[in-house]
Amino acid sequence: MSNENVPADTAPPAPANVLVIFGAGGDLTKRKLIPALFHLSAANMLPANFAMVGIDRLELDSESYREQIDNEIEQFVGEDFSRELWNNLLQRIYYVQGDFKNPESYAALNEMLQQVDREQQTPGNYLFYLSTPPSFFGEISMQLANAGLTAESGDHWRRIIIEKPFGHDLASAQALNQQLHQAMHEHQIYRIDHYLGKETVQNILAFRFANGIIEPVWNARYIDHVQITVVEALGVENRASYYEEAGALRDMISNHLLAVLSVVAMEPPNSFDADLIRDEQSKVLRAVQPIDPDAVATDAVRGQYGAGTLPDGRSVPAYREEPGVAQDSGIDTFAALKLQIDSWRWAGVPFYLRTGKRMASRYTEVVVEFKHAPTVMFRDSLLRQSNVPPCRLVIRIQPNEGIGLSLNAKIPGATPRLGTVDMNFNYADYFHSMPSTGYETLIYDCMIGDATLFKRADNIELGWKILGPVLDAWSASPGGEFPNYQAGTWGPGEADDLLERDGRAWHTCGVS
Ligand code: BG6
Repeated sequence: MSNENVPADTAPPAPANVLVIFGAGGDLTKRKLIPALFHLSAANMLPANFAMVGIDRLELDSESYREQIDNEIEQFVGEDFSRELWNNLLQRIYYVQGDFKNPESYAALNEMLQQVDREQQTPGNYLFYLSTPPSFFGEISMQLANAGLTAESGDHWRRIIIEKPFGHDLASAQALNQQLHQAMHEHQIYRIDHYLGKETVQNILAFRFANGIIEPVWNARYIDHVQITVVEALGVENRASYYEEAGALRDMISNHLLAVLSVVAMEPPNSFDADLIRDEQSKVLRAVQPIDPDAVATDAVRGQYGAGTLPDGRSVPAYREEPGVAQDSGIDTFAALKLQIDSWRWAGVPFYLRTGKRMASRYTEVVVEFKHAPTVMFRDSLLRQSNVPPCRLVIRIQPNEGIGLSLNAKIPGATPRLGTVDMNFNYADYFHSMPSTGYETLIYDCMIGDATLFKRADNIELGWKILGPVLDAWSASPGGEFPNYQAGTWGPGEADDLLERDGRAWHTCGVS
């Protein structure tokens, strides 16, 4: 059943601006950012006065850069591609060759921006997107400030989007925040966590706060525990140099899983104002208890994949055999944690988080398991049942986006029995979605100055604070037992023990 009455999204075009992409020759730019601009332009969400300026080390000029991206765009946009629309966008794309460390590059960029402002009648609103290795984040922002490119005035704005990873621990994140704050104000800084840009993550807020029946039961009185799972069948791909420094805990839990946790667990804000929402997210992160160093061995599990077979039949090598990975690497490709939130709403409700690469499948889901109903009435009645399964709400973030609720019902027939039934809502059955790389909303929101889906300095630092004891314990004793799970499985046995000890089990992904 599709909801034909849903009106089309009529978001107005963003104000006139220039998007400057540092790292214009990189993978993210060609696979996600430029296709996202195409989608925004197809949805009439780009302003008539818009331009993109790419900057990178490659020896190209605007003409040859256009040729390069023109050759690749179709495969990354896919079936929604339109030559006419693309040509219109392409002529508004410019390129500056430059080294991010050299002040002359910023002088050249400044000159180009003035030329673009004249040609495209853009009024000096610049959005700088740092799609570069993290070691450049501080440097580029300082250089932009020194070149006078970050100063705002009444008639133009300047903003910066920072990709992840934002630091590798609390100290490095604080140092980076300090550096950024020397170059510009917090309101100009947009720190990306692309999970916050996912429709289904944003829907958690709508689901919780727009339905009068949900919020009253969303607390420790009714909820037994929460599971957040983000697993992938992908391996480390060609990112070994980054991943060998990061690992699963830093790559996924420090940002994406804690972002999902904060949306699930936050208190209702008074409005959708960006700062009020982020205040509530920070409050809940502040209430998460960092795992006690003595408890890391039991409440945190790490894993690394060995060789194995994926469900599609492909045999894949062990992490330590991947190109660029050390043969004795102690990096985690799987991590699971048990966290407690010390607040009135959540005291006593464990949050179990897990993430891993080369797992049996790709799933992102939140499982909210409710407390068991008292079974005494069933013991004395004909519906005899020693263990009535608890109701469970499964929020499927990807794939098969939707929400499922499992309930108990009487199985028809002469013998009184209880069975589990599912109530299911699939996004695709109700709503048509706009083609998306996931970056459209984030770029558009930044252009209109809405920071709701971006992380504030304190959100980031609180995330690192929570993980500090685990990072310390793991770096003090690099994983010697690796590999401890086979590619194509559900991770190490210790992750199952983490829940079994509490009399619980991981939900089978993909089932309501
Ligand atoms: C990125 C991580 O932030 O998220 C990757 O660096 C991971 O390792 C990716 O593969 C997962 O994103 P998504 O949107 O495909 O779930």
